[in-house]
Amino acid sequence: MKDQLINLAIKAKEKAYSPYSNFKVGAAVLFENGKIYTGCNIENASYGATNCAERTAIFNAVSDGGRVLKAIALIGGPNNYTYPCGICRQVISEFAENGDVKIYIVKNSTDYIETTLEEILPGSFTKKDLDNKGE
Ligand code: THU
Repeated sequence: MKDQLINLAIKAKEKAYSPYSNFKVGAAVLFENGKIYTGCNIENASYGATNCAERTAIFNAVSDGGRVLKAIALIGGPNNYTYPCGICRQVISEFAENGDVKIYIVKNSTDYIETTLEEILPGSFTKKDLDNKGE
């Protein structure tokens, strides 16, 4: 599963639409339904409308009915490890049940770092915080 996810992220990177930054990113996500979805970064002339690869992949899965994210592989530049941006960490957190998600930060098919959401987004704000509406 891990190798499949990593290889699909590498392949998804080829689809990146990044004419402004020329920085290509690919992601692959495994959801609890056993399905894998992929995504790439999609930039926009209005830069703020850009969507990161992780969010493209996750939204792809959620719009197909997926709700629980189990693992994500992400690849950016070839010479360093690209970690998810802050917004993507928050979106990963939304669909990770109890923070239980494996995160693979990939440089190439054999070089990758395995990390956890707790490690890269400690003390996160989640739906549990909304149960207590400040009263
Ligand atoms: N990017 C991602 O796709 N994922 C990240 O986690 C970091 C940044 C993309 C967005 C933009 O298209 C390019 O990388 C440069 O920021």
